[in-house]
Amino acid sequence: MLDDVLPYLRCPVCERALERFADTDAGSLVCATGHRFDVARQGYVNLLPGGAKPGTADTAEMLANRAAVQAAGHFRPVADALAAQVAAHLPPEAALVLDVGAGTGYYLANVLDEAPQAVGLALDISKHAARRAARCHPRAGAVVADAWQPLPVQDTSARAVLNVFAPRTAPELRRVLHEDGVLAVVVPAPDHLTELVEPLGLLRVDDDKAADLRRNLAPSLVLLGEQHVTYPTRMTRDEVVSVAGMGPSAWHTDSASLAARAASLPDAATVTVSVHLMIFRPG
Ligand SMILES: C[S@@+](CC[C@H](N)C(=O)[O-])C[C@H]1O[C@@H](n2cnc3c(N)ncnc32)[C@H](O)[C@@H]1O
Ligand SMILES: [Zn+2]
Repeated sequence: MLDDVLPYLRCPVCERALERFADTDAGSLVCATGHRFDVARQGYVNLLPGGAKPGTADTAEMLANRAAVQAAGHFRPVADALAAQVAAHLPPEAALVLDVGAGTGYYLANVLDEAPQAVGLALDISKHAARRAARCHPRAGAVVADAWQPLPVQDTSARAVLNVFAPRTAPELRRVLHEDGVLAVVVPAPDHLTELVEPLGLLRVDDDKAADLRRNLAPSLVLLGEQHVTYPTRMTRDEVVSVAGMGPSAWHTDSASLAARAASLPDAATVTVSVHLMIFRPG
């Protein structure tokens, strides 16, 4: 819950520590200067400074699609590989795992299952994501914040940062990462969901995502190890529509058009999941 991660948070306006304030049932968080942020009924807190426009936030529908695809187990091998890598780098004592662009909190929850000493902070610009992520795991809390702006997280506080199919800026990830911490990034490989690109008009993955990532994070974060996770998964037509409707293509094509395009597909299809899992450490 939110209180588990409170010591790691900071005020997005003045950067001072945040404390609980029991003014309403759900309460709020307040800093020593007096900036106050209401805790939502669903347990997350919105730490976007006033006036921020969450233009790239995933919608409720995208989150529902993502949750359905994850619940069906299609990304389970990715979650398992990520959890194993991250848990192996965590210390035996209490530690923060921060997930930037956490979505439903699926990957964070899997890491926390493998790391009983850790607490998790799910950060996402979408309140629909924060709502779901706030209940993804008993040791997780969720905040609404913008990954492109200074993160509302204390310096060097995270022993691990996750960044799965989500935006990032190297200086902020480096700032919040502990000197012995690791950053785990998952990016799609060029053949990710390749069978669906033509029939559903999905956006193609840029060939050089992994190389771009290494370049963009250097020199503050250096590559420690890399794993290509790839496997076929069998999806129903509904799941195919959901997987298309949870990703970047959902911004360009509405769900009715995706469903119409999917009508030409067989009842079930074999789809390739193919991602690069990369582990970085502070340089
Ligand atoms: C493709 S989804 C990945 C979600 C999750 N990591 C997963 O793989 O299931 C990208 C997520 O990044 C979030 N997002 C987009 N722009 C963001 C920003 N500027 N700051 C924080 N999160 C952002 C979206 O709301 C969405 O939940
Ligand atoms: Zn403040």
